[in-house]
Amino acid sequence: MQKFIVKGGSRLRGELKLQGSKNSALPIMAASVLPEGQCLIENCPELTDVYSASRILNCLGCKCSFSKNKVMTDSSALSSAEIPEKLMGEMRSSIVFMGAVLGRMKECTVSIPGGCELGPRPIDMHISAMRKMGIDIRETGGRIICRTRSDRPKGAKINLNFPSVGATENIILCAVLADGETIINNAAREPEISDLCGFLRKCGADIKGDGESRIIINGREKLHGCEYSVMPDRIAGATYLSMTAAAGGEIILRNACVAELEPFLSVIEQTGCTLNTGENKIYIRSAGRIRAVRDRIRTMPHPGFPTDAQAVLMAALCTADGTSVFEENIFDCRYRHTDALVKMGADIQVMGKIAVIKGVKHLYGANVEATDLRGGAAMIAAALAAEGTSEISRIYHVDRGYEKIEEAVRLLGGDIKRVQ
Ligand code: EPZ
Repeated sequence: MQKFIVKGGSRLRGELKLQGSKNSALPIMAASVLPEGQCLIENCPELTDVYSASRILNCLGCKCSFSKNKVMTDSSALSSAEIPEKLMGEMRSSIVFMGAVLGRMKECTVSIPGGCELGPRPIDMHISAMRKMGIDIRETGGRIICRTRSDRPKGAKINLNFPSVGATENIILCAVLADGETIINNAAREPEISDLCGFLRKCGADIKGDGESRIIINGREKLHGCEYSVMPDRIAGATYLSMTAAAGGEIILRNACVAELEPFLSVIEQTGCTLNTGENKIYIRSAGRIRAVRDRIRTMPHPGFPTDAQAVLMAALCTADGTSVFEENIFDCRYRHTDALVKMGADIQVMGKIAVIKGVKHLYGANVEATDLRGGAAMIAAALAAEGTSEISRIYHVDRGYEKIEEAVRLLGGDIKRVQ
């Protein structure tokens, strides 16, 4: 099993081009089953989750090839509407294939998706929305069998009780080829939703209101292929900025999505780091010793502070002057990384959705296990700031979302290597 060996103490310095967004690339790849033709998806990060998505595409009969951050898909002739349980279990995003395959094939068979263990991750909102769109759904032997009642899914008015990212994506994917108008109220407003809509519009879809709480989709009879470039990964951006805040130094992120990172930037700025933003770039300088964040950091749906950046910022705040408080409002179990940070010397108390971080003078290298994708990245950030050497195992979690993270960190002067 591969591990990262991280020697702490080096300041980070240099420039890094940000990878394409995992959470955009995955639904966009699912969307590529909708057009009857070829798509070229550029700036696609090379990650294990993206490879899982391309295996799903292949198994549906979509020709999919991957080379140098470019994915070519050809869905002219799909041959199957069934995704094997094993592939469904490889990642959470496999569930968004449901809406896309239904839109194109009028039927699909899926199962409960896998993904990071962040507490219960039900799909009730996805299922009830599909039912409203005229889909019969029955569950048998762990399989979810979906079939449209008439010849196409039907447009519907859907009120989500929570702005779920995945449910919003699934509804959009099903609605673009549905019969009539679909309205999503309380839709997720995450930038990755707008990126998916940008791709679909290039394929000829009629979608309005993405980025707002009310999205209106008018179903088309057919979509065509297109070329599209995936947006930069705002959470990878937040990760490298947090690593620099933790370890000290100064870096420039290029190909960065400044506006989309604003909810994170406005918080990290409170730590006393110097931040400057320009067109598609972000500069950060940290003296190494940062300040605690005075206001409670509440994770919320976009444009609130992103839950995906909670762990990496927490790693930086472990050695801040003063006490910071997080409130995790999206997932029930998203503090699993804190045990590893405590093992490295952090002072963290977790009470339900609250985590209180009292800054300590030093962290120390330790042997820890990545608990999930962002938790693993937080351990790398802490290890870079720590005295001594850390060994981080179960790094397959990290490889699901970060493209060659060790090369990126080494480029910035961090001492990290991957060993077998
Ligand atoms: C997406 O997950 C992201 N994943 C997550 O990123 C991210 O943390 C999350 O959105 C929130 O921003 C991808 O885009 C692939 P949700 P998703 O549906 O779609 C509850 C990362 O680190 N819920 O918005 O699964 C759910 O349990 C990952 O890159 C229901 O109750 O998130 C959770 O508490 C991890 N019923 C909350 O809503 C449902 O039917 C938010 O989930 C659906 C969701």
